[in-house]
Amino acid sequence: MADRPKRILLIVGGGIAAYKSCELVRLIRKGGGEVTCVLTEGGAKFVTPMTLAALSEKPVHTTLWDLKNEAEMGHIQLSREADLVVVCPATADLLAKMAAGVADDLATTLLLATDKPVLAVPAMNVRMWQHAATRRNVARLRGDGVTVMEPDEGPMACGEFGPGRLPEPEVVHAAIMRFVSADPLEGQPDFADDRHRGLHGRHVLVTAGPTHEPIDPVRYIANRSSGKQGFAIAAAAAEAGARVTLVAGPVHLDTPPGVDRVDVESAREMLAAVEAALPADVAIMVAAVADWRAADAAGQKIKKDGSGTVPPLALAENPDILATLARSKQRPALLVGFAAETENVIDHATAKRARKGADWIVANDVSGDVMGGDANSVHIVTASGSESWPAMAKHKVARALVDRIAKDIAK
Ligand code: CTP
Repeated sequence: MADRPKRILLIVGGGIAAYKSCELVRLIRKGGGEVTCVLTEGGAKFVTPMTLAALSEKPVHTTLWDLKNEAEMGHIQLSREADLVVVCPATADLLAKMAAGVADDLATTLLLATDKPVLAVPAMNVRMWQHAATRRNVARLRGDGVTVMEPDEGPMACGEFGPGRLPEPEVVHAAIMRFVSADPLEGQPDFADDRHRGLHGRHVLVTAGPTHEPIDPVRYIANRSSGKQGFAIAAAAAEAGARVTLVAGPVHLDTPPGVDRVDVESAREMLAAVEAALPADVAIMVAAVADWRAADAAGQKIKKDGSGTVPPLALAENPDILATLARSKQRPALLVGFAAETENVIDHATAKRARKGADWIVANDVSGDVMGGDANSVHIVTASGSESWPAMAKHKVARALVDRIAKDIAK
């Protein structure tokens, strides 16, 4: 059975960052989710119910005292039919009320009545965020099981600088997706630490997918790479706060939220796009680049001449993008390659690491149905040896790898 769309109840608090909630609604819809908006009185000073209703294509709720609505849909129901309640922006005032259990308007009543997970995305002036009262409220909310994201750091609308800015809507959306797609056996993802922001301010370059090497205008050499693992890594790096450039070969996949995508066809185009994207702090070369291309691609379709003679197909070697990057003056501080192997996986990956000049090689055993499948079984080969990870879904491999990268570059 196809999954039903995820339902988000979005409470928009009264801060200047409320305008970003409009983009968040758009991203949730684009990602296939449903969103019902609740505007606080303050929120309605910054965005109108009309805007949110148009974007969400659902009525927007603003007041507890709407009798007609109460008859049709009580606030208890509104708070419980969602999969996740998101408070964005969560102002200092709203966090304080949530922590104290105040229920004096529709938003706070819903928050007290809900039996669903709550994700709060704070945005406020840096002094307000750092104030002991707010620290206390955030700690209390986290103790109560509310997930409170860390705000971004940077220049603020009020002219000050520091933590307190609302994370970009793509980052909030990625956190929501991580929440609603969390494995029930693993419990909710943990955003209370700074793990999800571990690549903030870093540029991560990812290659993904196969390359197509033309033989003539209608034929090409290709391979079975789906691009799923590389796209999952790009998504995980963006969730971790990185600026991500994803150089993608021909694949049928949507661009993950918050990722800059450059589409290419051939290995030589991929190399040019990678070089154009430098400098980068980290490069993760996941693409299954074709080793060879047709030496002389024909300008016109090659025709059968009726004699039964097979046209010769001479091959030329493609540039090795990973090895080129390893030798480059702009070599990223951490260079990660992948190795698709069918036998002697760790030995081959260890040799490949040395040959190509990568820091790490993520070796996957492609003897099963890894290519195109959703799961992956990998070994990480570094200067200090190798470790084998259990078979996991590709998005979990992506998150684990990104966590490891974030820890490594923080050293
Ligand atoms: N790679 C690359 N450019 C190429 C070939 C491979 O950047 N022309 C990168 C891949 O993105 C991957 C790593 O090199 O990160 C290893 O790819 P793989 O296909 O396993 O290695 P090959 O060099 O093709 O080695 P072999 O075919 O001998 O196993």
